[in-house]
Amino acid sequence: MKLLSVLFALLWAAGQQAIAAKQPNILFILTDDQDLHMHSLEYMPLLQKHLVKEGTLFLKHFCTVAICCPSRANLWTGKAAHNTNVTDVFPPYGGYPKVVSQGINNNYLPIWLQNAGYHTYYTGKLWNAHNVDNYNAPYVAGFNESDFLLDPYTYDYLNAHMTRNGAPPASYKGQYSPDVTATKAATFLDEALLHPERPWFVVHAPVAPHSNFGFGNDGYQESDAPKYAARHAHLFKDYKIPRTENFNPEKQGGVSWIKKLPRLNQTVLDYNDEFQRSRLRALQAVDESVEQLIQKVEKAGQLDNTYIFYTTDNGYHISQYRLHPGKECGFDTDINIPLIVRGPGVPAGRVSTAVSAHTDLASTILTLAGAPRDDSDGTSIPLSEEEEQTARHDHVTIEFWGLGIPEGKWGDYGDFNRSDGFGSLRHTVGNNTYKGLRVVSEDYSLYYSVWCTNETELYDVKSDPGQLHNLLSPEYEHIAATFTIAGRPFREIVPRLDALVLVLKSCKGETCIHPWKELHPDGDVHSLVDALGPRFDVFYERQPKVSFLKCELGFIKESEGPLEPNQFPTAETYSEEEKETLRKQGIPVSFRYQGPIGFWT
Ligand SMILES: *[C@@H]1O[C@H](CO)[C@@H](O)[C@H](O)[C@H]1NC(C)=O
Ligand SMILES: *[C@@H]1O[C@H](CO)[C@@H](O)[C@H](O)[C@H]1NC(C)=O
Ligand SMILES: *[C@@H]1O[C@H](CO)[C@@H](O)[C@H](O)[C@H]1NC(C)=O
Ligand SMILES: *[C@@H]1O[C@H](CO)[C@@H](O)[C@H](O)[C@H]1NC(C)=O
Ligand SMILES: *[C@@H]1O[C@H](CO)[C@@H](O)[C@H](O)[C@H]1NC(C)=O
Ligand SMILES: *[C@@H]1O[C@H](CO)[C@@H](O)[C@H](O)[C@H]1NC(C)=O
Repeated sequence: MKLLSVLFALLWAAGQQAIAAKQPNILFILTDDQDLHMHSLEYMPLLQKHLVKEGTLFLKHFCTVAICCPSRANLWTGKAAHNTNVTDVFPPYGGYPKVVSQGINNNYLPIWLQNAGYHTYYTGKLWNAHNVDNYNAPYVAGFNESDFLLDPYTYDYLNAHMTRNGAPPASYKGQYSPDVTATKAATFLDEALLHPERPWFVVHAPVAPHSNFGFGNDGYQESDAPKYAARHAHLFKDYKIPRTENFNPEKQGGVSWIKKLPRLNQTVLDYNDEFQRSRLRALQAVDESVEQLIQKVEKAGQLDNTYIFYTTDNGYHISQYRLHPGKECGFDTDINIPLIVRGPGVPAGRVSTAVSAHTDLASTILTLAGAPRDDSDGTSIPLSEEEEQTARHDHVTIEFWGLGIPEGKWGDYGDFNRSDGFGSLRHTVGNNTYKGLRVVSEDYSLYYSVWCTNETELYDVKSDPGQLHNLLSPEYEHIAATFTIAGRPFREIVPRLDALVLVLKSCKGETCIHPWKELHPDGDVHSLVDALGPRFDVFYERQPKVSFLKCELGFIKESEGPLEPNQFPTAETYSEEEKETLRKQGIPVSFRYQGPIGFWT
């Protein structure tokens, strides 16, 4: 009996080992503030060679909240920002202390991967407000080996301070931060590759191409173009930011504080061109690291069991919409970001237009690891053409709370200064709180948003890729008048989009993935086009509208207006008696939605 159970245990262990051996390795490279729209990827030849040519580039990948810490919380948890409630870079609404108080330090991807048998490594920037004082309070959970960049030096390219496995911070003064983290990533990878029997997850999160932050004489942080390594100083001397239609436009788009921005003068434009050149140069150190890491995996013979992800936390704008260098906006420049995946079964040299978001990355990785969870607000990204046939969705939830932050030495948006134990920012603008929605299919491409001032904007990104003509402003009524989807007019499209935002702004799990089902519990509506059916017109016109009571710097539920939509009635919504009453009033029962029975009269 005893012998039998020992034998059984041995067999079980061997089985586990076999499963573990099949789990693929994950190499994850996460840059900081890298743009897709100014074509930064095209200036990275080694990334082109090892990732774009050998893997799939996802052109419709989005971050859901365009700023570092909230976006990283979204990425590493697979939960929408309104569910992490990490909405800022510093406390009280964000940063490492908020990550900890929200329980994320004990419940996020690296921990789930460890539970699935992975050995996990991380070097670079993890969270904002993870600093030289609180680096070990508590200890960052989830990594077998780690070496984190720490505030307030995170963006100080030549003065990095890092904590290795929770030890007191070490200073790397004088060394180039992206090279420091590249070396550490290579060392971690070497160690991981020494143990081919155990699956690994290695993350390199360099600070490039984020702007450089140092300290001014008055104690305020001063930002400037990122620093680059001397060996890259000669590059891109003739580069200029693409002069797209939204570049410092003569006629401004946007709403709220963006609409009011003055045009940038030549001094600022020249500065910004050099700023973007510096960003491209800073990315060269990352480009070299990409090659070094991939060659290591190849040499170790583990390439056919390794997935490589390359992405960034959020996008970037410089001079577009008259903006100073920065992010935090809902325009595609800020939210539509690079994602490249290379690995077994992922077609080489393919460009995918399947819509995906950072919310989906945790699910994608856990699915590859054979350890899926059912509490995600996202869903696995289709990595092949076959998967894409069944797993496409058309919506991305966009959210933001708080400040518009100008970077660079000319940056000035207003008189809002903030300064606390975690950092200080000057000349920012409040009222940068909004709910957005990006819907993209073969036939349409829209961005709709509602701001905390109740202002709204809607761009037809297909005909207006620069997102300058707000179809909801009287100025562009004539364009809106001719705009249709599936033959339905503009005035019927807007209430559908608004209702979708209403669902998505407080969704959880399945509802975030299949939001139309929340509006149509019968399950007969799967897309914007389905929802545009004329029989739903009254239902959508009568939905509560997304609105805010006021602008807050964080997620204060009481200020965010209606939270729940009405649902289209199913056969069970009304009793026979109620249906009879409705029929007598001449109201077609199938047209009705939940609500007081007398609502229609
Ligand atoms: C989000 O966090 C802030 C700061 O702690 C808090 O005031 C707010 O109530 C939270 N929001 C929700 C919806 O829990
Ligand atoms: C890695 O960390 C996890 C979680 O603490 C632990 O279970 C595992 O044994 C560690 N791996 C090694 C090889 O120490
Ligand atoms: C250009 O704009 C900046 C920022 O608004 C301003 O400080 C500067 O004086 C302007 N320069 C010129 C030459 O007008
Ligand atoms: C913010 O800081 C700037 C520059 O230091 C200063 O001129 C301005 O008065 C400050 N604004 C407020 C509201 O304190
Ligand atoms: C936000 O907008 C309101 C209303 O337009 C305005 O009164 C307020 O000053 C703005 N706040 C900031 C910080 O810009
Ligand atoms: C936005 O609209 C709602 C509903 O009409 C209203 O209650 C609220 O006061 C408005 N908010 C602002 C900031 O004007």
